[in-house]
Amino acid sequence: MIFSTLAKRTFTSTAFNPYKVTVLGACGGIGQPLSLLMKLNEKVTDLRLYDIKNAKGVATDISHIPTNSKVTGFSAEEADGLNNALKESDLVLIPAGVPRKPGMTRDDLFNINAGIVYDLATAAAKNAPNAAILVISNPVNSTVPIVAEVFKKNGVYNSKKLFGVTTLDSIRASRFISEIVKTDPTKETINVIGGHSGITIIPLLSQTKYGSTLTKEQKEALIHRIQFGGDEVVKAKNGGGSATLSMAQAGAKFANAVLSGFAGEKNVIQPSYVDSPLYKKEGIEFFASPVTLGPNGIQEIHPIGEINGEESELLKECKETLKKNIDKGIKFADSKK
Ligand code: NAI
Repeated sequence: MIFSTLAKRTFTSTAFNPYKVTVLGACGGIGQPLSLLMKLNEKVTDLRLYDIKNAKGVATDISHIPTNSKVTGFSAEEADGLNNALKESDLVLIPAGVPRKPGMTRDDLFNINAGIVYDLATAAAKNAPNAAILVISNPVNSTVPIVAEVFKKNGVYNSKKLFGVTTLDSIRASRFISEIVKTDPTKETINVIGGHSGITIIPLLSQTKYGSTLTKEQKEALIHRIQFGGDEVVKAKNGGGSATLSMAQAGAKFANAVLSGFAGEKNVIQPSYVDSPLYKKEGIEFFASPVTLGPNGIQEIHPIGEINGEESELLKECKETLKKNIDKGIKFADSKK
């Protein structure tokens, strides 16, 4: 089982790996704690923070933390601020954009965030064509295809280095199942596949040892909670945004996994929404499943594994929605040609 391999993985690498990391949208609810966590990551030696507001302030604040990295803030007002933030970057995290308010779906964010991601991806394609691009801005199901189209347009697309960050769905799954079965959440892993919104998020409970012990009602409630866990946060924040702190932890965890792959660590496996061969024949270009990360980005995209009848039904619905979400992103990018 892929995830048990991951859990048993030991860190033997002591090599010092100097990586340049850029955060675009570094001063938002996600951007600030994410930047803080990247400052604490010993693989990062050069941290560049860009935002349309207050990047210098956040960068100066974080720069006082005594870890082995230089932190620089780049503002939109300075000439070439965005370009300089990206130059020679190894990994670019994109949490720029607007978050949801109560009653909104992630798809409702498309009109604003698609344009933001398009512009940032254009700058990344020109200034950091070899970087791993980690897309957090929603709707991820559509923003990742937008980045792919922009990179293609600029002749620098490398599907092995483009990632939609779906880690939050996996960490929620770990937490929520542990609350039911009363176990240590750090020891629980659930294979969550598909996409990153509502019914496109599919936790494969049948692949866990609890698949046969939980009642049908418990399983349905758990699947729904993992799919719509983000709504709990949006509702509780009551107009103050969506998940930021748990998302920052998820983003930092995934970024660390990508850097670990770059550094040559073995058996680094994380789920991610990527340009995937799994359902391409059905016209679905992007899909989330576990991927092995290596020195050049994605080393292997793993199939979803065995699923039961109910999960097959969920997968069918997921694919229908995903296809629409992906087409929407591609159409948007094409309309800017
Ligand atoms: P926020 O509004 O607190 O922060 C967004 C930041 O982006 C702000 O600092 C803003 O100034 C900046 N920004 C806006 N336009 C920009 C541009 N053109 N260039 C650079 N920076 C720009 O929002 P929050 O809560 O940090 O969420 C950010 C995004 O992440 C949203 O789209 C949200 O839906 C998404 N998200 C994704 C999750 C995932 O699992 N992938 C989970 C939670 C949120």
